Amino acid sequence: MSARSTAVCGVGLLTAALGFTSFTNAAGPPRSRESFNAGWKFARFGPMPDGSRKAEPGGTHWKFPSRASSEEIDKNNTAVAALDGDPNTRWCANGGGKGEWLAVDLADAPDAAALEVDWEFPDLRYVYVIQTSGDGQSWKDVKQAATDRDPRRIAFEPGSKHIRVRVDGLPDSKWASIAELRFFDREGKPVANERRSLGEPPSSAAFDDTGWRKLDVPHDWGVEGPFRDDLPNDTGKLPWKAIGWYRKALHIPNSDRGRRVFIDFDGAMANSQVYLNGKLVGGWPYGYQSFRLDLTPFLKYDADNLLAVRLDTEKWGSRWYPGAGIYRNVWLVKTSPLHVGHWGVFATTPAISGASGTVKLAVTLDNQHDVDVRAGLKAEVFELDSHGVAGAKVAETKSVEKILLAENPRTVDLSAVVPNPKLWNPKTPQRYLARVTVERSGDVVDVYGQPFGFRTLEYSGKGFALDGEPTFLKGTCNHHDLGSLGAALNVRALERQLEILKEMGCNALRTSHNPPAPELLDLADRMGFLVQVEAFDCWRTGKTPGDYSTLFDEWYPLDLQAMVHRDRNHPSVIMWSIGNEIVEQDGPWLAKPMADVVRAEDPTRPVSAGCHHPQAGVNGFQTAVDAFGLNYHLEAYSRILNHPGNENKPIYTSESSSCVSSRGEYFFPIKRGRDSQANFQVSSYDVDAPAWAQTPDEVFEALDKHPRFFGEFVWTGFDYIGEPTPYNSDSTNLLNFSDPAQREAMKADLERLGRLKVPSASSYFGILDLCGFKKDRFYMYQARWRPDLPMAHILPHWNWPERLGQVTPVHLYTSGDEAELFLNGRSLGRKKRGEYEYRIRWDDVKYEPGELKAVAYKNGREWATDVVKTTGAPAGLVLSVDRSEVAADGLDLSFATVTVVDAAGLPVPRSGNLVKFTIEGPSEIAAVGNGDAASHEPFQASSRKAYNGLCQAILRARSGQPGSITLRAESDGLTSAQVTLRSR
Ligand code: GAL
Repeated sequence: MSARSTAVCGVGLLTAALGFTSFTNAAGPPRSRESFNAGWKFARFGPMPDGSRKAEPGGTHWKFPSRASSEEIDKNNTAVAALDGDPNTRWCANGGGKGEWLAVDLADAPDAAALEVDWEFPDLRYVYVIQTSGDGQSWKDVKQAATDRDPRRIAFEPGSKHIRVRVDGLPDSKWASIAELRFFDREGKPVANERRSLGEPPSSAAFDDTGWRKLDVPHDWGVEGPFRDDLPNDTGKLPWKAIGWYRKALHIPNSDRGRRVFIDFDGAMANSQVYLNGKLVGGWPYGYQSFRLDLTPFLKYDADNLLAVRLDTEKWGSRWYPGAGIYRNVWLVKTSPLHVGHWGVFATTPAISGASGTVKLAVTLDNQHDVDVRAGLKAEVFELDSHGVAGAKVAETKSVEKILLAENPRTVDLSAVVPNPKLWNPKTPQRYLARVTVERSGDVVDVYGQPFGFRTLEYSGKGFALDGEPTFLKGTCNHHDLGSLGAALNVRALERQLEILKEMGCNALRTSHNPPAPELLDLADRMGFLVQVEAFDCWRTGKTPGDYSTLFDEWYPLDLQAMVHRDRNHPSVIMWSIGNEIVEQDGPWLAKPMADVVRAEDPTRPVSAGCHHPQAGVNGFQTAVDAFGLNYHLEAYSRILNHPGNENKPIYTSESSSCVSSRGEYFFPIKRGRDSQANFQVSSYDVDAPAWAQTPDEVFEALDKHPRFFGEFVWTGFDYIGEPTPYNSDSTNLLNFSDPAQREAMKADLERLGRLKVPSASSYFGILDLCGFKKDRFYMYQARWRPDLPMAHILPHWNWPERLGQVTPVHLYTSGDEAELFLNGRSLGRKKRGEYEYRIRWDDVKYEPGELKAVAYKNGREWATDVVKTTGAPAGLVLSVDRSEVAADGLDLSFATVTVVDAAGLPVPRSGNLVKFTIEGPSEIAAVGNGDAASHEPFQASSRKAYNGLCQAILRARSGQPGSITLRAESDGLTSAQVTLRSR
């Protein structure tokens, strides 16, 4: 990371920039905050990437490990329940009765030679198949049987390593459900399942982790792959479900006696349990939440302590790829017993005028002394520059003294007036730093830096104003994954995403559907984005087995409080969302108490929610939130706006469009739906969207007709791993393959398996693809969001040898209002954009190779041009990097793009050449990608096929090894390319 981006990494670095870490006095160093990311050991258990299972050490495990196609986890109807010897518990498939299975690993029972299945509904007539397998992957049928006819005991070959019971053809709304599966040997004697002890658990210091992987966090074990056909599309066909253990030694010197030692996790996916020296310290189930644990009572001094973290994503359910592991930063924080508490400063700016700005600091002090103490407290305010470095001191508060009771926190208010405050907004994202100093008996015992900003938010029935200026939210929703880097946080990758969004004119972000990494908000503060931080994707009623609904009642107040406490000082945060498309939209009964939790923690920002039931805008739900967010449903805009009582309600679309497209794919005729889809891709003419969704053009029209809507958040800025709508399930829809042979093969698959193997693993919703390459839609939004930027963008590409003489429509996205199209120099007409039209179309262009040129006009004056040419065959590669200088810190990245070009150097749009990367110098390839949602090529590799002319390699410079780095890209039969970077 460059010095520029390190400065955003929060309080620790800000204090470092101010030189606080060198501050010492008789009371010892007041506070330190250090990265705790380096030098962990990691191992994975439970479901393994290859589909096998590995027993977790410690505790007990079953002799026969089992797994199933689906389970009812929330009801405990899991696979193991059919193998536990207890006929009163059962496995139940939640997917119903078609193609479900239960598999048992018999590696430890070579004598097993027959099995009996106790079906829960033996009288229901259906067919099942017993299968065996040597590897747990490919299965051989042993016998097909029917529940009501065949003998229950079925023999199989002894020594079979895996056995599986498959159920097919159950009537609709019946579930495959097995009470007990029993095994017997050749003589008919039972082969019993049993629990076995597995020795020391990894939490114990005595556990031997030789052979575990050494790694630094942030780490995402799911993105390591491989993609697997048998894994669900909605979470990206990646093997993220597992039990993960991380271990790390922690040396605490004697000099730390008397201090408090905390560990801060910015997020750990999921169900974390943190142990120190074998004892459970705590944890946090919701993997998107940041949390702190106090290690002090468990510490050994002048000795190595063993910190161990157990994560369990097997029990986590998600509608998208959530990642897995300690995927965000970890910090070790040491303080005096008397200190500013966790997220203990709340800065508000109750009065701002041109001449002065009041900042109020509610400082929560923690007294962890066992005696009452008298604390002295004051704060100074500094201006921060754009790198987060403090400059001149501009104000200070009075010093106050307060008594804190033993072992008790207390909140103390300070306030200061800053003369001529510079306002924060996307154009001038000015921040300040409040430096709070805590004293005891004249000794400084804590210094705490809290960035904040002066800005005003006004919401009304008329819309939203920032610093008094009416502002439309040109927003995008984004999930947290970083494409081929997975969920593992990387600040540069995030920063690059925001740079691209900025270029498009996006000014707002919705952190769908969960609290983001703290660094995202630091970047938003610094780069000037308006952010809605969202808490949940469901409340009490879930959407996916194992999702937040399983935690809701116990955890929602804690999760909401944690979210608000962490993020309420960011000037970029302008709104909270308590949920996305939650089931409970039938009135205010649950939204109200939840919104009240948020309001109690932050009275300065509106609470909102994203509702996909228009009824929620009129049934009273809308009264529970301060700003009403509607997802989709353009037809309901007027009804909601005009509903009595909603006159003064701020209303916006919290989720819009959900247009689907694949970069560089075009299908004909241009029609929404099946005509727009082929080969697991979707046409980039931007006319397709699922049933509930709309094209950008339709949304723009609705917004233009309803100017009271104060913003939109497009679904989504970037493609993300998982949820590959319209190919989002292994369904029985026959997809329209352009190749008849492939279509036949698919049909055969469908007949054999009862479903298709849909390869799609990432979304098609993004305006940018998974690599951050621009789809055509980028220019449609840029035209609208940056009307003053001269721009014209032609689609499609002009390489259609198979369409000679056929109608091949040409569309133009432009910030102009009129354009003329030329094909090989002949004018095809000059057209004006009509009212509620957002693209200019030439629908009857007959394809001929050559040059397409569009000249756009604005107010009658020439404004922008674009040219697209038919290219020759691929002849070479061109390599470019987004930054040729990176920091040698093991974190900073350079994104390299490979373009396949013809002999004249023109990008060849439909090329898919395989590109091999080699590196010389102190760097490695962190990931590769090409934006193809249907590709199963690994992300962690040194080669990648181009997809429609492009692929990407992401380089990470090695820590502490500055030098010159050369990246080379080669492809058979093409001239190669290379680029040189410098790491400092
Ligand atoms: C919305 C939902 C998003 C995403 C989107 C796809 O209804 O809130 O999370 O699933 O649909 O169109």
